[in-house]
Order: sequence, then C-alpha cells, then structure tokens
Amino acid sequence: MRSVAMMIGSLVFAGSLMVIWTAPVRADEPAPAPAKENYERFCQKCHGEQGKGDGPGAAMLNPKPRDYTDCTVMQNKKDEELIKVITDGGESIGMSADMQPWGGTLSAEEIKQLVKYVRGFCKQP
Ligand code: HEC
Repeated sequence: MRSVAMMIGSLVFAGSLMVIWTAPVRADEPAPAPAKENYERFCQKCHGEQGKGDGPGAAMLNPKPRDYTDCTVMQNKKDEELIKVITDGGESIGMSADMQPWGGTLSAEEIKQLVKYVRGFCKQP
C-alpha cells in the first residue's frame, strides 16, 4: 500500500516538474507568423503579389485595392490609418467594405508587421 502511494506521489512530482519544464515553450499567444506568410495567405488574393492591387480576387472589386507601389499615395498615409483599416476593415474609415476587418484573425503585432510589409512595396527610385 505504501509503495503505491509513493509511486503516485512520485508520478505527481514528475508531472509537476514536466509542467514547469514545458511552461516557457508553451506560450499563451502563438508566435506571430512572419508578415510575408500572412500577406500571402490573407491579402495577396486582392492586393496582388507585388502590392499593385491586381490579385485574382480584385477583378470583381469596385473600388479596387490601391496600388501600394505608388509612393506618392502611400507617403500620405499614417501607420495608424493603415493599422485601423486592417484591424477594423475598410468600412470603419469610409473605404470599401470588401476590405474586411482582420483584427479577429491577426494579432496586433502581426498587423503592425503587415503595415511594414505593405509599405515595402513602394520603392523610391
Ligand atoms: C477581398 C479582397 C481583399 C483582401 C483579402 C484584403 N484587402 Fe485590403 N483592401 C481591399 C479593398 C477593396 C480596399 C479598399 C479600397 C478603397 O476603398 O479604396 C483595401 C484597403 C486596404 C488598406 C487601406 C490602405 C489604403 O489606403 O489603400 C490596407 C492597408 C489594406 N487593404 C491591407 C490589407 C491587408 C494587410 C490584408 C491582409 C490581411 C488585406 N488588405 C486583405 C481588398 C482586400
């Protein structure tokens, strides 16, 4: 009887050790996916591989997504505006509702990284 209790005791002990040991690996939030991956998965079909707004999904859209390679337009956009549109959708600032809100799908950090990624399409000559 005593040895069973000891066995259970040591199992519980080993179990709690394992929990402590794995804790740092098992973070509550999944690590943010790289912006390129998110873009290709969620955004490219409308915004296009090069950010020109010519993805296959854009054919039926009116208005079309903007051409992000156009630096003169993108320079006038604040990060906060772009973050807002991606998080809350186009309708939230009077743009097309075809741009859906992504705040439920992507974390704030992922959206911040996507803004950087989208800005990367504009190449100053
Ligand atoms: C179903 C097609 C579609 C998808 C998918 C999509 N967008 Fe859009 N997006 C649009 C349209 C349409 C607009 C608004 C065009 C307008 O009203 O002038 C827009 C607007 C935007 C804007 C506003 C900035 C501006 O001034 O043009 C940003 C930033 C943006 N999208 C980023 C993204 C990101 C990042 C993703 C992926 C997480 C994404 N979009 C996915 C269609 C899409």
